[in-house]
Amino acid sequence: MSWTTLDQMDLKGKRVLTRVDINVPMENGVVTDATRIERIVPTVKDILAAGGHPILLAHYGRPKGERVPEMSLQQLVPALEAGFGADVVFAADCIGAGAEAAAGALQAGEVLLLENTRYHAAEPKNDPEFAAEMAKLGDIYCNDAFSAAHRAHASTEGLARLLPSCAGRLMQQELSALEGALGTPKRPVVAVVGGAKVSTKLELLGNLVEKVDHLVIGGGMANTFLAAQGIDVGKSLAEHDMTDTALEILAKASTLGCNIVLPSDIVVAREFKANAANETLAADACPADAMILDAGPATVAKITDILDSAKTLIWNGPLGAFEIEPFDAATNAAAAYAATLSEKGSLISVAGGGDTVAALNQAGAAEKFTYISTAGGAFLEWMEGKTLPGVAALEG
Ligand code: 3PG
Ligand code: MG
Repeated sequence: MSWTTLDQMDLKGKRVLTRVDINVPMENGVVTDATRIERIVPTVKDILAAGGHPILLAHYGRPKGERVPEMSLQQLVPALEAGFGADVVFAADCIGAGAEAAAGALQAGEVLLLENTRYHAAEPKNDPEFAAEMAKLGDIYCNDAFSAAHRAHASTEGLARLLPSCAGRLMQQELSALEGALGTPKRPVVAVVGGAKVSTKLELLGNLVEKVDHLVIGGGMANTFLAAQGIDVGKSLAEHDMTDTALEILAKASTLGCNIVLPSDIVVAREFKANAANETLAADACPADAMILDAGPATVAKITDILDSAKTLIWNGPLGAFEIEPFDAATNAAAAYAATLSEKGSLISVAGGGDTVAALNQAGAAEKFTYISTAGGAFLEWMEGKTLPGVAALEG
């Protein structure tokens, strides 16, 4: 498959509407992991170097059509300026007179950042009139948001149909790296899937059991599976209404010979906070007033055993509450082990997802992985062989 890149476009003096994914983790208005910002720098710099005017379009969070102040992209201006080494002008809306004036007034070397596209309910609906309003701001559309390409939204899909379009540098890199590592993966393949986005990923798991030899399930999702098997998970994060789906996935895995790895031991606490008093117990021994915050050492040993004989690892989502110590232990230990095997060359390791990248950075493992994707959901959907609307629109 091929698509137009920035190299085939005449960018001089052109306003380049550039869809980026700067949905970065933040705490109290401060970016806690800048990976997604760092990875779009080449696109922005190349557009500037060619004499073009980058106009950034992006979403932040899921404001559902409301102007939620905590989800304003304005807070990212300092982090973007630091990343680009260029001035970033901000417009308080992604359509309308103010945005048009700002786009028209851009000086050479400046970058324009438009406010959160999801402040408009029309964005996720891929409303053509809304897309046409955004299209007025640019001469060219460049999609550099691989990690949002699984969304058929106006800024990720609709715009590609309205303006001459191309893929940005990160989009190119993501697609070629994923194809190279996972196009025809070396077996055995292990997938580690964790994190708190339970219901969305349960469906993805159903597809993964068809493709991988071992599926390690961690985080909140693991609790859902334990609970589905009749184990009391106390006050743990778990989706009890997903029991049937979880059981179907387990049954499908056993029919297809996919080895599902759930925690055999757990680390529990009474409070969700750093350094909360905790104990390590068997997976079926969670007290009624406690919650599972991490997988235990026996589970980690099982994972590292599997990694020893694996050839390919796909990782999405932490194994525990990695953002609070010491509940990052299982994630850190498994990540460090995978990093060492990758460095030795015995494992091809590919990881994706905002939380995952943050967790691997925290574990000091990210730079040793074979490839780190900035994508979470898009990464998994690509893995399943699904067509990503944002990518398909570029090809069309
Ligand atoms: C992500 O963070 O995974 C992407 O930015 C997509 O966000 P979404 O899941 O809210 O569409
Ligand atoms: Mg997502």
